[in-house]
Amino acid sequence: MSNKHFAPVNSAPVATKNVANGGWPALWQPLNPPMRQWAGKRVWLVGASSGIGEATASALHAQGAVVMVSARKREALQDFVVRHPGSIALPLDVSDASAVQALTASVLAQGPLDCVVYCAGHYNAMRAFSMDVADMERHLSVNYTGALHVLAAVIPALRAQGHGHISLVGSVAGYRGLPNSLAYGPTKAALVNLAETLYLDLRNQGLGVSLISPGFVQTPLTANNAFDMPALLTPAQAAQAMLQGWARGQFDIHFPKRFTVWIQLLRLLPDRLFFALVRRATL
Ligand SMILES: NC(=O)c1ccc[n+]([C@@H]2O[C@H](COP(=O)([O-])OP(=O)(O)OC[C@H]3O[C@@H](n4cnc5c(N)ncnc54)[C@H](OP(=O)(O)O)[C@@H]3O)[C@@H](O)[C@H]2O)c1
Repeated sequence: MSNKHFAPVNSAPVATKNVANGGWPALWQPLNPPMRQWAGKRVWLVGASSGIGEATASALHAQGAVVMVSARKREALQDFVVRHPGSIALPLDVSDASAVQALTASVLAQGPLDCVVYCAGHYNAMRAFSMDVADMERHLSVNYTGALHVLAAVIPALRAQGHGHISLVGSVAGYRGLPNSLAYGPTKAALVNLAETLYLDLRNQGLGVSLISPGFVQTPLTANNAFDMPALLTPAQAAQAMLQGWARGQFDIHFPKRFTVWIQLLRLLPDRLFFALVRRATL
């Protein structure tokens, strides 16, 4: 089989490449350039009218970043700008590819983009015996295709700049199949794979790529969950965990660890054991 799809891309010198040990990154090196100094950095958060996106925009603003917030709810974005002077509201529906392109061009016309965070999300619990294809397609459109629209618009500019960071907000629900996750889980699994592939393609080009994998966070998205959510965080706590992950240069920024390490372990289990454990825990 040809290995042309895995051939290294011709690119600029690699910050993480260690020629002395044959190109393997040292174990102690962070996977991404750590992001600790946010003062003056231009950050675009897509899906920031509420919840994790809004709290992260607020935390970054407190660190001195120039935050640009996008989502469909204009009033919520305007309200954010009033509470966070110097920030910029950029209303956007991520399902509109040409609107994403146009808005990205105007963002880039104002200056370089240091970080793009894709937080837009849609979630409804769904099981195999109540399948709603239209709603599944909406999950796909907001959670995945919208991210593709943003990536297609920003990657050429970030490559031309030679620096910048892309974060995709996935979910631990993307690690493996889970009950109620028929519509949501597959879109988040796609983001996990997408983030890994982006990392392989873009890290050597001087860009950072990270995957954000929250456990449960109290937001409008989870407000209708009819079960007790373990290790539930506030959006502000989620935002602090993200800042910590960026500061450490992590690739998969998952939190809270007291919950997500167990979900990480589920990834390693053989199918028979995985299915039995999840059935016992949830049915
Ligand atoms: N909460 C959790 O427990 C949890 C756990 C794991 C992962 N996540 C992920 O975290 C991210 C943020 O979710 P959240 O929990 O903070 O929920 P949220 O408060 O409902 O945030 C979702 C954001 O997505 C935006 N959005 C939805 N459709 C959009 C569209 N077509 N175009 C542009 N923006 C759109 C919403 O704004 P508008 O409605 O104004 O457009 C809102 O700002 C999502 O990707 C979610 O899957 C959440």
